[in-house]
Parts: sequence; C-alpha cells; structure tokens
Amino acid sequence: MAGGWMTAVRIGLVGAGGVAQRHAQVLSGLPEVQLAAVTDVDPAAAEKLASAYGARALPDVTAVLSEGVDAVYVCVPPFAHGPAEREVIAAGVPLFVEKPIALDRDIAVALAADIAERKILTAVGHHWRYLAIVDKARELLADREVRLVTGAWLDKVPPVGWWPHRDRSGGPVVEQAAHVLDLARHLAGEVTQVSAMGSGIPPAVEGADIDGSTVATLRFAGGAVGTLAATCVLGWKERAGLEIYADGLALSVTEDGLTIRTKDGVTTVDSDPASARVAVDAAFVAAVRSGDRSGIRVPYAEALRTHTLALAVASAAATGRTVDV
Ligand SMILES: NC(=O)c1ccc[n+]([C@@H]2O[C@H](COP(=O)([O-])OP(=O)(O)OC[C@H]3O[C@@H](n4cnc5c(N)ncnc54)[C@H](O)[C@@H]3O)[C@@H](O)[C@H]2O)c1
Repeated sequence: MAGGWMTAVRIGLVGAGGVAQRHAQVLSGLPEVQLAAVTDVDPAAAEKLASAYGARALPDVTAVLSEGVDAVYVCVPPFAHGPAEREVIAAGVPLFVEKPIALDRDIAVALAADIAERKILTAVGHHWRYLAIVDKARELLADREVRLVTGAWLDKVPPVGWWPHRDRSGGPVVEQAAHVLDLARHLAGEVTQVSAMGSGIPPAVEGADIDGSTVATLRFAGGAVGTLAATCVLGWKERAGLEIYADGLALSVTEDGLTIRTKDGVTTVDSDPASARVAVDAAFVAAVRSGDRSGIRVPYAEALRTHTLALAVASAAATGRTVDV
C-alpha cells in the first residue's frame, strides 16, 4: 500500500445514479480510499456500481452502516432526502450530501439541528467553491463593495425521470441554479430579499410541470442588487455562471474560467471544472481522516443557507410575492 501508515478510508454510497458514479470514480482515484458499500432503492443500480469498484451492494442504509464505513455519501434525488441522513447521523458517521439537500426546508432544518447536536462532520456537493478561480475572485473583491450581481443557468432538462416534476426536484432554481446562488452568496454575501417570476410554461418534456424559464431579482445585505435567470428549454448546456460588478471591476465566473476587467484591460484565467469535482471529495476525505474540518468549504449548515435562498426564489416565483430570506 502506498503510504503504509495510512489506513484506507472506507466509504458507503446511498444512491447509485449519475452523481454517485462520479463520486465513485473520483474517490477511487484518491490515495487510500476504498468504496466499501453501495445501496440504492434500485438493487440493480447498486449492484452495477458496486461491482465496478469491488464494493458490496447492500439492501439498505442500515446494512451499509453495519459494514463499519468511515463515511457515507447520500446521492439521492431531492425528494428522497431525510431517512438516509437520519440513520447516518444517528450512527455518528461523517456525511457527504449532494445538493439540493432536500426538497423543502423542514427536513433540511431538522437534519441541520441533528448534525449540530451530534457534531457530525458534513460536506455538501457545492464543488464550485473549490475552484481556484473562485478564490481569485474573492481576493479581488476583498477590498471592494459589490454593486451588481447577474447569474444565469441556461441548460437542458437533465435526463433523469424525476427532474421535470416540481414535487420531485423542487424545480430548476432549487435543483440546478442553486450552484449559482451558492456562488453569489460566497462572493457577494447574504441575500435578504427576493422577487421572481416563472414563465408558467414547462419545458417540452413529457409530464413536465416546472417553469421552463425563471427570472429573479435579489437584494444583498451589503447593498448590491442582482438577478438570476434560469432556463431548461435548451437541448444543451448554454452557460452557467455569475457576473459580479464592483466600482471599477467586472468579473465573470464560470466553471471554465474567470474574466477580470478593469479600466486597464481584460485578463482571463482558465479553469478546469474537474479539479473542483476532485477537490470537494479530497477535502471531505482529508477531514474524515484527520478530524480537521477546516478544508471543507460547504458543510451542511452552510448549504442550508443556500437552499433557503433557492427555496425563497422558488416561492417568490410561485406566489408572485416578494420574499424576505
Ligand atoms: N454537485 C453536482 O455537480 C451534481 C451533479 C449531478 C447531480 N447532482 C445532484 O445529485 C442528486 C442525484 O442526481 P443524479 O443525477 O445522481 O440522479 P439519478 O436519478 O441518476 O440517481 C439517483 C439514484 O438514487 C436512487 N434513489 C432514489 N431514492 C433513493 C433512496 N431513498 N435511497 C437510495 N437510493 C435512492 C435512484 O434509484 C437512483 O439510482 C440530485 O440532487 C442532483 O442535483 C449534483
């Protein structure tokens, strides 16, 4: 074994779909990490993922915990959050949860309280915060007031059956644009008030009941105002990113790069999206191994603040009312 002083960190996965497959691939590429067990309500999905990584496919979360895993990843769709997390927390085991952390707020608030009480080590999959260009953007903004924020997530309907259903996914703002809202909070501070409008026209996908397009306006505690535009009517991912404007500075951030404009000119910094997808797992595993949580950029309580903001936008769009966050 490389680095023989290290014992392998043994991971259990709950949910074996697209994002679980990504985590399995990343985790198996980290030193001294072992995918130990996988469970899914679809046993064939669990079996397929487990066998690809020499892990055990097990019937439920209880069985995964019985394997003595060091940490559990919960990679279920938005509507399915709650029961798995409760079991992991009760067992005192470190917990990685994919975003969005729930469909509504009550489950997430209750889980956050349990996590705080049991002092559980947590992380949430807001991997954009691990991009080096996001650190750079924060540095550039450190001594300036943000005045305007414009965010967008312009994409397709992802090819998973639950996605175009509001009561399964929470809708595009909660499910997808949450990455942009999280970045907006990280770079421009807390949002205090939102209003929003949904198109009322679903994307052209069988059974869809979500807004195909949503716009929102945001008021930030620091004095900035902002917008968010989301659509899922394209057949491809057009763009997902955030622009930030401060006195004499314009920044544009996507997973692929950062553009910095001042009166003196333009600088672009390229970024590798895969780096952040590795870093989010590496940071969690390092924390599980050492007990030092300082490398985790979005623990559960922080993700709850982003989720609360996304839910406020969804609620404002649904009701037409301005919502205090
Ligand atoms: N951070 C990211 O970049 C990123 C990327 C993709 C997906 N995600 C998030 O991950 C979540 C899952 O997305 P996905 O693309 O993997 O979906 P998916 O539909 O491909 O996979 C979900 C899996 O969970 C299983 N499942 C459902 N309920 C379950 C339960 N109660 N217990 C165990 N397994 C259960 C399903 O059978 C399915 O295999 C979504 O919330 C999505 O937003 C995050």
